[in-house]
Amino acid sequence: MGENGNGQKNTLTIRDNRTGREYEVEILEGDVIRAMDLRQIKVQESDFGMMSYDPAFTNTASTRSSITYIDGGKGILRYRGYPIEQLAERSTHLEVAYLLLKGELPTQSELDQFVHDVTFHTYVHQNLTNLFKSFRYDAHAMGMMISAVAALSTFYPDAKNIDDPEVRWNQIVRLVAKMPTLAAYAYRHHRGLPYVYPENELSYTANFLNMLFRIGAKEYKPNPVLERALDVLFILHADHEQNCSATTMRVIGSAHADPYSALAGAMAALYGPLHGGANEAVLRMLKRIGSVDNIPDFLERVKRKEERLMGFGHRVYKAYDPRASIIKRTADEVFEVTGRNPLLDIALELEKIALNEDYFVERNLYPNVDFYSGIIYQAMGFPVEMFPVLFAIPRTVGWLAQWEEMLQDPEQKIARPRQVYVGPGPRDYVPISERG
Ligand code: CMC
Repeated sequence: MGENGNGQKNTLTIRDNRTGREYEVEILEGDVIRAMDLRQIKVQESDFGMMSYDPAFTNTASTRSSITYIDGGKGILRYRGYPIEQLAERSTHLEVAYLLLKGELPTQSELDQFVHDVTFHTYVHQNLTNLFKSFRYDAHAMGMMISAVAALSTFYPDAKNIDDPEVRWNQIVRLVAKMPTLAAYAYRHHRGLPYVYPENELSYTANFLNMLFRIGAKEYKPNPVLERALDVLFILHADHEQNCSATTMRVIGSAHADPYSALAGAMAALYGPLHGGANEAVLRMLKRIGSVDNIPDFLERVKRKEERLMGFGHRVYKAYDPRASIIKRTADEVFEVTGRNPLLDIALELEKIALNEDYFVERNLYPNVDFYSGIIYQAMGFPVEMFPVLFAIPRTVGWLAQWEEMLQDPEQKIARPRQVYVGPGPRDYVPISERG
């Protein structure tokens, strides 16, 4: 057990007042102790030993990661050390994907190769169109996507070989490439429109927009401002360290499931309205509020806990979410092309009032990434059901980076939390005829 620069020991002494015994445990980098070091604390030798109780993992580090850094107090987000603001301004989603997956920004030839590989894996097996056709016309896009990604595992049985780095990389490329295609199929199914196949000469986002919005054989040229805005939104959503869906990805992956099955699970977690489903919930909320005049009433209901202000609050950020600031700026550029979304006025006023109310100030509740993203998506012509899908496409990169890191971490094993059992003690089975 070492010392820090001031000659102080990097240890924590724990005194168990039940026994009077003291234990010295090591403090690791990042002010953490190993939960397993608590296990030695016992009253009797036969005891199981002490555990920490942490429902919802509010104070538990599940991994040592070198992918994404967040300082929630200062509103800082970095991918592999690079500030999100610089990446959003100067990079592209596929370059950021390479950075997150490989750890370093690519050289030109590495980027060209990666873009080429992703571009040429965008097609999905034709049988998948039958899967989409089997859904009702009003099926939610996320439900279709989760099923389609799970179905992909049956098309690539080699993906089970998770110990082979080359096999893993092939699945990573396939997933990054095919997500926009599947998302476009989900959208076209919903609209009753024929599916549009990928166009390999288009960029990642232009190809996606083409598969979504092209009508007939007419060439579809996405507006470059919208193409870039979508790319920026993809960069902002690419990873966010150990959130609910990334943790799901790691947990399923820790059982050595194939990456498609694990990613379908991560998507299911993202679908929830407290996570990636919040962007859809924000839009429905803004529509329900309907006009600026109704905001004070709505906020009163939020303060009485009858409502939740969707798109506000975050487990980690206790300051303005840096992604929300960038999205707000991107919104102005998008609205110059699409015209202003009238819901923006409600959102801006809601933010202004909320940020001055004690309820929100005391709880450090600020707009998060989902507060403004939906307004942009709507202006670009996406129906609300597509919003969580638009989150899932770029987050696929983060999930896969987290999965890859987990599999290579010698400290990781199958995830398996402990519990504190609070149910009945032992009792005898009672035949049904004798139960009162
Ligand atoms: N509206 C009203 N009150 C809120 C909100 C909100 N959006 N968020 C938190 N609070 C209150 C909460 O009721 C609690 O109050 P009290 O101390 O009186 O009990 C206090 O703030 C602390 O909240 P918490 O629920 O303990 O915080 P958490 O870290 O467990 O939850 C959250 C984080 C994101 C789930 C929550 O803030 C929330 O539900 N926000 C709305 C949904 C949302 O926008 N989710 C997207 C998150 S960012 C992107 C992503 O993760 O996908």
